[in-house]
Amino acid sequence: LASVDTVKEKTLAIIKPDGVNGNYVDVIKKTILGSGFSITQEMQLQLNENTVKSFYAEHASKSFFSGLSVHDKENAIADWRALIGPTDANIAKVTHPKSVRAFCGLDLQRNCVHGSDSPQSAAREISFFFEKSSSGRDSRM
Ligand code: TYD
Ligand code: MG
Repeated sequence: LASVDTVKEKTLAIIKPDGVNGNYVDVIKKTILGSGFSITQEMQLQLNENTVKSFYAEHASKSFFSGLSVHDKENAIADWRALIGPTDANIAKVTHPKSVRAFCGLDLQRNCVHGSDSPQSAAREISFFFEKSSSGRDSRM
């Protein structure tokens, strides 16, 4: 019997504070599950400022509250990026009106969700939250 090998990928998704505060968690999770992803791990936590700075090493940022999940699917990384749409939610509303950022984002900064941008980022970001402790001072909700 020939078997078809499918290579699954994992990517990290974050529903950022504006998404959580705007009550978009359920609709975003429905979108994820309705788009062929499985959610393999998830948690909700309050990040302290140091952790956010080290997660977003390339950006200065503020402390934020978010729900995180690891998604598993063939081509998960690029597909989750495609599903969330462009960084600027105002652009997403015009160019990708069905994207997650179009329906729950507000602008360039308050764009509701995060997605890993490459296999290297996904590996780093998933292990940042799920496979080893980071700063140890973030409170699990
Ligand atoms: P970036 O990694 O460039 O975008 P993406 O989330 O699409 O991978 O930026 C990370 C986050 O930083 C972005 O989601 C929102 C915020 N951000 C701003 O607030 N202003 C900016 O000019 C940019 C580029 C990002
Ligand atoms: Mg990015």
